[in-house]
Amino acid sequence: MACPYHQSAELNPALLAVDWLLGSWESDEPGEGSFPTISPFRYTETLHFSHVGQPVINFMFNAFHAKSKKPLHRECGFIRLQPGTNRVAFIIAQNSGLVEIEEGELTGQQLSLHTHALARTSFAKEPHVKQISRMFQLRPDGKLEQTVSMATDDHPLMQHLNITYRRLC
Ligand code: HEM
Repeated sequence: MACPYHQSAELNPALLAVDWLLGSWESDEPGEGSFPTISPFRYTETLHFSHVGQPVINFMFNAFHAKSKKPLHRECGFIRLQPGTNRVAFIIAQNSGLVEIEEGELTGQQLSLHTHALARTSFAKEPHVKQISRMFQLRPDGKLEQTVSMATDDHPLMQHLNITYRRLC
């Protein structure tokens, strides 16, 4: 299958350590969402990671209701690595009105990220998110796993999402 996000530009050497992310991914089984204040839900999601030769990965995440296929959460942004270190930054815009910088570390084929800065539209829905922790891991079976935890005005940091993706291209 032709990969719509395939880039012909040569990969910038700064991205070699995270080249395992590049390409398109689709949820394997529907992901699981939960939080103490909401009913548990299932969702599907596609992830696209691309580059244009810069030392930056561009990404788009699109999530849908597992049954109705209705578009739900969407995020897009950029990934940068601090040269000469294993420090990683995700610069993220979310369709809920949240913008965020998450920073963390790359260990092998695992990324652990935590909110470094966060802002929202003045009329963003409550409760407000106060902190996000996120983990991406390329598993030995070639699948990509993402886990997201969040803290809100009302609740301390706890898991909101867990999902596994298979590579499309
Ligand atoms: C970092 C990413 C995300 C953040 C920060 C976030 C944040 C939130 C917050 C603050 C709530 C309200 C919780 C409450 O009422 O106490 C919520 C609810 C919900 N989230 Fe997420 N979310 C994220 C990603 C996703 C994704 C990928 C999906 C997939 C479909 C999703 C689906 C839902 C659903 C279905 C609800 C409950 C219904 C609703 O309030 O709209 N979220 N999320």
